[in-house]
Amino acid sequence: MQYDTPQFFHLMQYANTADRDVIDMVSGNPDWEPPKTIRTALKTYADADPDQFQYPPSDGLTTLKEEIAARRNVDPDQVIVTNGTGEANYLAMARALEYCSGSTVVLTDPVYPYYPGKATMLGGNPTLVATNVDGSLDIDAMVAAIDDDTACIVLNTPNNPTGAIYDLSSVRTIISAAEEHDALVIMDEVYDHFDLTGSFESALTIDSANCIVTSGFSKSMAITGFRVGYAIFPEPLVDAAKTRHMLVNVAGSRPAQQAVYEALRETPPEYYESARETIRDRIAAFTTALDAAGAEYSRPDGSFYVLARFDGFPGTMENTKQLIDEAGVAGMPGATFGTARSDWLRFALVTPRVEEAADRLAAYFG
Ligand SMILES: Cc1ncc(COP(=O)(O)O)c(C=O)c1O
Repeated sequence: MQYDTPQFFHLMQYANTADRDVIDMVSGNPDWEPPKTIRTALKTYADADPDQFQYPPSDGLTTLKEEIAARRNVDPDQVIVTNGTGEANYLAMARALEYCSGSTVVLTDPVYPYYPGKATMLGGNPTLVATNVDGSLDIDAMVAAIDDDTACIVLNTPNNPTGAIYDLSSVRTIISAAEEHDALVIMDEVYDHFDLTGSFESALTIDSANCIVTSGFSKSMAITGFRVGYAIFPEPLVDAAKTRHMLVNVAGSRPAQQAVYEALRETPPEYYESARETIRDRIAAFTTALDAAGAEYSRPDGSFYVLARFDGFPGTMENTKQLIDEAGVAGMPGATFGTARSDWLRFALVTPRVEEAADRLAAYFG
């Protein structure tokens, strides 16, 4: 398998070298401050004893695992602290493909592009199932796609790129179908703190031995560079995943895990609410301008992305570059996320310049 530069790097590079000022709405890097404790914990860590600069337990600092377990109401032994949600998804898919007899990985369309990439890398066969237009799960189509060849189904809620939040009864139906066919469901909940409508419920509230939940702190604490995430496995599946994590990584970053542990304990709910409020304000400003531009769009219930479609301007790579050059706004082509939304563009609302970007799009298309 060759190294393929991810499309978003390619576009960010294109935007950076453009001859004009460009507003970056490509990447999912939060632009706001992390919790205060992240900074103080790192400063304190710099003066710690040398033994604190050595390997942490491979599956994560015990204190952090216990804190995560208490918050998610699971046994600490089920938790593996990973290098971001990205590694958690990798461990979960790898476990499914080695444990289950099938090799098909059922995904939604649109899809977070790393899922089909990982599935293929691990020898699985990705199958995309289109969601409904509003991004909700097409339950009949999903259930029809799950059979004895299925190793796992990967779902992401709140969703990147649609902003949909899956209702728990749909998730329960998918998990039941997985149980019938001896497959696993992997629930990526990395945007769990960006539930903008109060409708998100974690899959951990469903009692199933066939469900792995992944998440992380990249988005909720605005620390995508720290690489701290976690996977919660059913007991019988966790040991082999710990072994894989150890053989691939030895361990994760100790200072990053310590800072996240302290921030988890000390950050008040107002921190997360303030980030959500920022996103709600940006959605309002951005969608008002999209109305002025005559665009069709998704209003996210969660996460921080908006999908938009402009008449006569499909979201191809070529048009995305044209938008950078002529409007000064960089988004992501819909084709990056599968086939269902190839006419659309995705805009990440993690820049303080959302209103300016909205004005530019309204002027360009209006
Ligand atoms: C759906 C989804 N899962 C996982 C990730 C990666 O998260 P992490 O930084 O925790 O590895 C992202 C990042 O954008 C994402 O959108």
